[in-house]
Amino acid sequence: MKLSASFLSIKNNLKENILKLDKTTIDYLHLDIMDGAFVSNKTWNIKEIKDLLKKTTKPLDVHLMVKDVYKYIDDYKTIKPTYLTFHYEAAKDPLEIINYIKKNKIKVGMSIKPNTSVQEIFPYLSQLDLVLVMSVEPGEGGQDFLISTVNKIRLLDEIRKNYEYHYLIEVDGGINDETIQYCMSADIIVVGSYITSSDDYQGQIDKLKT
Ligand code: DX5
Ligand code: ZN
Repeated sequence: MKLSASFLSIKNNLKENILKLDKTTIDYLHLDIMDGAFVSNKTWNIKEIKDLLKKTTKPLDVHLMVKDVYKYIDDYKTIKPTYLTFHYEAAKDPLEIINYIKKNKIKVGMSIKPNTSVQEIFPYLSQLDLVLVMSVEPGEGGQDFLISTVNKIRLLDEIRKNYEYHYLIEVDGGINDETIQYCMSADIIVVGSYITSSDDYQGQIDKLKT
């Protein structure tokens, strides 16, 4: 299981603290990109992101919580993320978006909000590199893990075994050293405030890994 660190909830010295995260053993940096339309919060623009990540070395995992999906894909493909993930709920034609991201030689992820079922995205699963299951409502860090996520992870794991699909399962929101136990069949776990609300980032990461 890999860990992807979200820096959404870091309040002070963001650039220094992102570098501090970059020096830990986390596997990815998770970028929460919000547009003030798909969700009410708004985060950084691409120019700010490039500046914040100037000295980082970790692979990037971009989570687009935006309405205008294509515009943001065009922005974020320029930082060459490993995964570029859009929300199913924001997509008019999910397959077209999947192919557009693939054409840019970036691995494509699709995310579902807590009230969206796995059944709804079933037609797209064969085409995806990653499925991001939201375990909180998208929009902010520090919320409680929704236990209903657990069945979705199990179902996605079953489907990929039965159909020999290759997508990874990522879980995002409310993960701490207790809730992580519900996500054992996921491949990538996003963790934000559990790590960044402490001064000892590496200590928190070590607690998650045991
Ligand atoms: C929520 C974001 C998550 C979240 C993770 O919209 O996608 O990445 O901020 O933060 P925690 O771990 O604090 O829930
Ligand atoms: Zn996220």
